[in-house]
Amino acid sequence: MKRGRPALDPDLILSELAKTSSKWLDIEVFEQVDSTNDLAISRLTNTTPNSVFSITADEQRKGRGRLQREWHSPFGAGIALTVAIPTQFFSCETSAIPLLVGIAANNCLKKLGANAKLKWPNDLMIAIESTELKKVGGILVQRQDEYVVIGIGINVDLENEELPTENATSLSLLEITASRESLIANLVVQLEIVTKLTTEEWLPLYVQDSSTIGTQVTVARKSESMVTGLAINVLESGELLLDTEMGLIEITSGDVLQVRPSQH
Ligand code: BTN
Repeated sequence: MKRGRPALDPDLILSELAKTSSKWLDIEVFEQVDSTNDLAISRLTNTTPNSVFSITADEQRKGRGRLQREWHSPFGAGIALTVAIPTQFFSCETSAIPLLVGIAANNCLKKLGANAKLKWPNDLMIAIESTELKKVGGILVQRQDEYVVIGIGINVDLENEELPTENATSLSLLEITASRESLIANLVVQLEIVTKLTTEEWLPLYVQDSSTIGTQVTVARKSESMVTGLAINVLESGELLLDTEMGLIEITSGDVLQVRPSQH
């Protein structure tokens, strides 16, 4: 493990944001929290109505992932960012918000020069070779009261032995250099941009960035059987449309295991 990683510089995040027209400047930086999402949720009752606030931390003790998984955030090695946004700020269907957050985060990774792709619904993947994808980040979107609480985790500088699975990677392992402060500022800016996207606007952007559409997949659905088929599209609700032996199936949530690229 690398020692002596520097802590986030809050002034640098604000100075990066000041270079943009973003109004989402309420951002609090912690050295250590249990989970930035949990902290944001606990603050919702005391927040100014219709305001956006962000929380970020150098380290999470109990970072949470999708489907009740853990998310590993060693000190200074990644991004652990939560942005709480009033649901009504979004122009898309509420159920599609996790996919739009994926578009926002993927844009940030592409700006760093990464060949970044989205595995449905919103795993942040990097194409290593033409067929291999590794996970560099993830997104946990929670709805609470009138808010969407958007958690984004990105492995910036994790070493191999710090990674949770063989399928994970970090930007530094791929020789992609990133300032955590600029990445945080850019994530906030990109989130603000995607709130304004309508269905007609976000769907083609998502399809373009998707590593799932056009491939044969098996989906592990929560408390339901596995289903295999060709992922043909996403719907405006954010559901994944699978062409299976049983006909077309709309997948609301689950874990995609990619089987193989399609033949056409
Ligand atoms: C996943 O891939 O399963 C989603 C991971 C989401 C991790 C982020 S880190 C910031 C925020 N706080 C959390 O506890 N989780 C999210």
